[in-house]
Amino acid sequence: MAKKILITGAAGFIGSHLSELLLTEGFKVVGLDNFDSFYSKELKLANLSSIQSNNNAANFSFYEVDICNKEQLYSIQDDIDLVVHIAAKAGVRPSIQNPTVYIDTNINGTQNVLDFMREREVDKIVFASSSSIYGNNKKTPFSELDDVGRPISPYAFTKRANELQIHTYHYLYEIDAICLRFFTVFGPRQRPDLAIRKFISLIQNNEPIEMYGDGSTGRDYTYVQDTVAGILLAINYLVNHKKVYEIVNLGNSKPLSLREMIDTIYEVLGKEKNIKQLPMQPGDVEQTFADISKAKELLNYSPKVGFKEGISRFIEWHKLSKK
Ligand SMILES: NC(=O)c1ccc[n+]([C@@H]2O[C@H](COP(=O)([O-])OP(=O)(O)OC[C@H]3O[C@@H](n4cnc5c(N)ncnc54)[C@H](O)[C@@H]3O)[C@@H](O)[C@H]2O)c1
Repeated sequence: MAKKILITGAAGFIGSHLSELLLTEGFKVVGLDNFDSFYSKELKLANLSSIQSNNNAANFSFYEVDICNKEQLYSIQDDIDLVVHIAAKAGVRPSIQNPTVYIDTNINGTQNVLDFMREREVDKIVFASSSSIYGNNKKTPFSELDDVGRPISPYAFTKRANELQIHTYHYLYEIDAICLRFFTVFGPRQRPDLAIRKFISLIQNNEPIEMYGDGSTGRDYTYVQDTVAGILLAINYLVNHKKVYEIVNLGNSKPLSLREMIDTIYEVLGKEKNIKQLPMQPGDVEQTFADISKAKELLNYSPKVGFKEGISRFIEWHKLSKK
């Protein structure tokens, strides 16, 4: 029988791509989202309508639910086989302005999801963790074995706390888990607060872009189809194994400097450069660079889309979505 997967944060960037992939792969998908005000509900409704146009959309059901609200969460009566917990307050810089809401959603909300799973006897979870956990780790590439005891933003410490919460429930209640540390995911429907999406809009409109720092900071950009393909591999691993708790980097392992990222967008759009340099922002890490050997060995993960190809696809989508 087709497995039924609960995706928290299904109306968001990564959650909506994952919903589509799982439907295409023959899963039943139960999506929840509270249309958090971090960015517009309109964009999330557009993501949901893309899911609804999937050939298997009859296997998708959606609940407007806030994971911080137990009554709403427990109103979901579906018989769930596995949870992919993606819902969160995302973003490093806003977490410095308002740490409490990050703790409410990411730590208390995750606790509710875990208690919901325990009570409903759902014993498998894939969790959306983050490369920001590595802080300003000097050793590259970042390995799952590295010390992650020195986060530099509230967002990062909530994500690390989530990995620890999930381990506790793995130990106490035999919930099998894979925590996937995503590395700067980009592509169609990317969150509007993230640099690549902002830069594409500004450069297309011949407006200047703001570059924080001297352009030497590095990011291991991962195309969204590679990220959701990695989540699917983690789901299949959990379906076929017991007594699992793993933390796995899901990056591209080919970091680019901020300057190279900006140059690629200008090149693909064929526009004149117009860049304003500003000081580095607190909480921003200097670089991210994933060692993906564990993802390759454990899950058979192999990212396929290079940065320039991903940017070209993102720009095509961006042009179409503006029409
Ligand atoms: N995008 C990246 O580069 C990246 C990198 C590392 C980790 N992550 C993690 O991946 C996940 C998805 O990121 P994204 O970029 O798709 O973000 P997103 O904001 O597009 O998606 C998150 C979704 O969760 C929903 N949500 C927030 N609070 C909720 C609540 N209380 N109840 C129910 N739903 C709620 C939001 O409405 C949103 O639709 C997040 O957990 C994020 O921390 C993302």
